[in-house]
Amino acid sequence: MKITVIGAGHVGATAAHRIAEQRLARTVILLDIVEGIPQGKALDMYESGPVGLFDTMVRGTNDYRDTADSDIVVITAGLARKPGMSREDLLMKNATIVKDVTDQVMQHSKNPMIIMVSNPLDIMTYVGYVRSKLPKEKIIGMAGVLDTARFRSFIAEELNVSMQDINAFVLGGHGDSMVPVVKYTNVAGIPLTDLMTPETIDRLVERTRTGGAEIVNYLKNGSAYYAPAASTVEMIDAIVNDRKRILPCSTLLEGQYGINNTFIGAPIKLGRNGVEEVLEINLDVHELDALRRSAAIVDENCNLLSDLLA
Ligand code: LAC
Repeated sequence: MKITVIGAGHVGATAAHRIAEQRLARTVILLDIVEGIPQGKALDMYESGPVGLFDTMVRGTNDYRDTADSDIVVITAGLARKPGMSREDLLMKNATIVKDVTDQVMQHSKNPMIIMVSNPLDIMTYVGYVRSKLPKEKIIGMAGVLDTARFRSFIAEELNVSMQDINAFVLGGHGDSMVPVVKYTNVAGIPLTDLMTPETIDRLVERTRTGGAEIVNYLKNGSAYYAPAASTVEMIDAIVNDRKRILPCSTLLEGQYGINNTFIGAPIKLGRNGVEEVLEINLDVHELDALRRSAAIVDENCNLLSDLLA
């Protein structure tokens, strides 16, 4: 396995380190346009191998030739949010960056799997799809795993129980229109609605929706990275080990949930072949409506990029 991480910022570097620590690849390439940063961070990670006990080769570079023949490419390149900015504010700037990154990745790897992490997430996944011309199974956006992790952590804290016992699903776009599906949320099989009042659930749902902004407001100059990196690496683990995990990820819907030709968070089966199945779960009218509204927002933004992507 050769895994390339594009972008040596906080998310990219944290993800690269986790990939090495979890021994998910023989080689990890960390690429960034800034000279010295990927080289320095990668060398530092590599030197942690003897103590962390991994043998992964971690190398930093500014040259796409070093990414040749990658099996998986994680794209984290782009600007992060500042306080008060929505993910959509990043649209044009990051679309230009992600377009260029995807083009360069595809020049050196014939058939990689791409995991998109750059924001606004669903739209950047679409940009990667259009530019890479990869089959839809091979380009996947990381968002639902992160949003679900946030929801699960808030539930665990509220109930003072193990996070491990909490199953949840957050679908839809990675933005204010995300759709936490309470019906499929349970604690060791016990429906959440049996354990919390509707008011408490609403509060946790709202905190999940604004979970990214909560971190941005603390950090001031950047956005979250530990949970985003951990979520990305959970997806990589599912692919590398062919686990066939059921995870909410941004994927191209083609008619499922009445949504066509849009990348949006939905439950998928994730294994060696990438998106092996899109699961169509039963949603009530309100949830379905929220999912379609979320998809419409993604669509509107993708339409703004038609000139850039032509
Ligand atoms: C977040 C940003 C990275 O959700 O989208 O933290």
